[in-house]
Amino acid sequence: MDRGVSSNPIRRYNYQGDPLAEPPPADLMEILDRYRGERDALITVLEEIQARYRYLPAKPLQFVSRELGFPLSLIYGIATFYNVFRLTAPGRYLVRVCKGTACHVNRSSTMIEHLSEKLGITEDETTPDGLFTLQTVACVGACSLAPVMVVNEQTYGRMTPDLSWGIILKVLAQEGPRDQAEQ
Ligand code: FES
Repeated sequence: MDRGVSSNPIRRYNYQGDPLAEPPPADLMEILDRYRGERDALITVLEEIQARYRYLPAKPLQFVSRELGFPLSLIYGIATFYNVFRLTAPGRYLVRVCKGTACHVNRSSTMIEHLSEKLGITEDETTPDGLFTLQTVACVGACSLAPVMVVNEQTYGRMTPDLSWGIILKVLAQEGPRDQAEQ
């Protein structure tokens, strides 16, 4: 494949306006190169892209289609079928409340309602300041600590609505003074 588009001014002019005229960025290319020719690796590729960008931006998905030969409709079909994938950028803090059986019977739904009210967002939404995204998840494997909340990679067990909001306030305090801190 020709990687010389950006170094040739005439070709660069001809390709301007084509968002995929340039080769993929190096970090994305590194992922794509590892799975080139592997027809059953699409989900793994999407997982790795999401791990790198925290969601699945449109342009990298277009590169996946072009470089690995998967139809864009298939890529979006998978990305929208599995709720582990996100097509929009999450907040800096991904707040996930478990609604698996053990957490559900320990009233995790009240925690979701409380956080939703306090943050002013519903499930899968992000606060306007881009700080918090609220999500629910199935069992995260910490049932003995139910009900459980996970903020980014940190797991908090035996939560109550007030305790969960206390965790959010601590995060806000680390971020510096913001309006929500007074809520
Ligand atoms: S059900 Fe919530 S951690 Fe297992």
